[in-house]
Amino acid sequence: MSHPTLAGAPFVATQHNALYLEGVKLADLAAQHGTPLFVYSKAAMLSALAAYQRGFAGRKARICYAMKANSSLGVLQVFAQAGCGFDIVSGGELERVIAAGGDPAQVIFSGVGKTRAEMRQALQAGIACFNVESDAELEVLSEVAHAMGLRAPVSIRVNPNVDAKTHPYISTGLKGNKFGVAHEQALQTYQRAAALPGLNVVGIDCHIGSQITEATPYLDAMDRVLDLVDAIEAAGIPIHHIDFGGGLGIDYNGDTPPAADALWAQLLAKLDARGYGQRQLMIEPGRSLVGNAGVCLTEVLYLKPGEQKNFCIVDAAMNDLPRPAMYEAFHQIVPLAPRIGDSVCYDVVGPICESGDWLGRDRQLVVQAGDVLAVLSTGAYCMAMASNYNTRGRAAEVLVDGTQAHVIRRRESTAEQMALESLVNA
Ligand code: LLP
Repeated sequence: MSHPTLAGAPFVATQHNALYLEGVKLADLAAQHGTPLFVYSKAAMLSALAAYQRGFAGRKARICYAMKANSSLGVLQVFAQAGCGFDIVSGGELERVIAAGGDPAQVIFSGVGKTRAEMRQALQAGIACFNVESDAELEVLSEVAHAMGLRAPVSIRVNPNVDAKTHPYISTGLKGNKFGVAHEQALQTYQRAAALPGLNVVGIDCHIGSQITEATPYLDAMDRVLDLVDAIEAAGIPIHHIDFGGGLGIDYNGDTPPAADALWAQLLAKLDARGYGQRQLMIEPGRSLVGNAGVCLTEVLYLKPGEQKNFCIVDAAMNDLPRPAMYEAFHQIVPLAPRIGDSVCYDVVGPICESGDWLGRDRQLVVQAGDVLAVLSTGAYCMAMASNYNTRGRAAEVLVDGTQAHVIRRRESTAEQMALESLVNA
C-alpha cells in the first residue's frame, strides 16, 4: 500500500482514502473537536529543526525560534524541550517562553518599538540579548538598564539594503523599511552604543525578510554584515556573535526554497572564507520550523453556484487564516476524504462579511456540504495572527505526536471573548 505524501505537508499522508497527520486520522480529530481546528505535527517541527541542527554541526550556533510565527504554549514547549532559544518581540512573548518552560537566558528580543516596561521585564528575566533597531532605542535601553544597576547586552540590527525578493509586506532589509540601522550609519551607532553606560555590545544582527526562496539574498546580506564586523572590530569594539535572522521560505505551492542545511552549507563556506567560521552564530527562524507542520481543518457549510463564480463556503475564515486576505497568500486546500466525480471550480470563502474573506481562489474540488477540508501549510502566521472579528471564537489546536493527539488550546467561547468588557452603568 502506498502512502503518498502531499507537497508542502511532509507529514500528511493518504491511507485508505483518508488523510492522516503522522499516525492520526484527521477526520477523527474534526469529529471529536469540531472545526475550524488547527492540527500540528510534532515530528514535522522536529524534522525542520533537525535540518538546521545538521547544517550547524561542529559550529557554535544557537537557534532561536521566532515565536511570532506560532506562539501557542504547546508548540513552544516542543522547541524548549529540543533545546532551542527564542526570538521574542514583546513582553507577552517573554511570559509565554517562561510559561512553556523555555530558558530566558536563551532569549533574544527583536522589534522596533520596545517599551521601557518591556525592557525592564527582559532585563529582570536575564535575556541573552536585545536586538536594537535605532539610536533612540539605544539611549532609552541604556538609561533603563543603568537605573537598574545593569548593563543590557545589545546587538544592533543593521539594514543591509538587499532585496529579499519576497512580498513587499514581509520584506524588511531594504532602505525604505522601518527596520534596522542603515549600513552607512552602523559604525557610528556601534561607537555610540559602546560609550553608553548601561549597555554591553555583544553582537550584530540582520533580518532581510520572510518567505525567502533563494540563497542569493542571504549571501549578499552576509557579505554586507561581515564588512561591518570588520569595520566595527577595527574600531576596537568586539563582536561576540553574529545573528543572521530568519526568513527561510517553505513550500506553499511548489515553491523550492533551499533546505536549511543546504543553505547553511553555502553560508558557512562564505563565513569560513572570510575567517568568521568559528564565531558564535545565531539565527531566528520562524516559518521554516512550523509552517509546514500545521493544517487547518474546516467544514464545508454550503455550496453556492453563481454566474461568474462558484463559492464553497466553509466554517474557517480570514480571522482564522488571515494570510490570503493580507498577502494574497496561497495555501493548498484538500478534502480529508477525496470523492470520485467531476471537479468544480470554486472560490473557497469564509462566513465573514468582507469580500476579502477568501481562503483560496479558483480551486478545482469535488465536494459536498458537510465534507471537511484541510488547508495546508498553516502552522505559521495563522493562529498567531487570528482575531475575534465578527465575534468568532478562535479555533482549537491539537498537537499530534505519533498516534497521540493532545489538545493544546481549546476552542474559545463567546463568554471568554466578552470577559474583559463591561456595560456602562447609568
Ligand atoms: N526575525 C525577525 C526580526 C523577524 O521580523 C521575523 C519575521 C523573523 C525573525 C522570522 O521570520 P521567518 O523565519 O518566520 O520568515 N505574517 C507574515 C510574515 C511576517 C514575518 C515577520 N517577521 C506572513 O504570514 O507571511
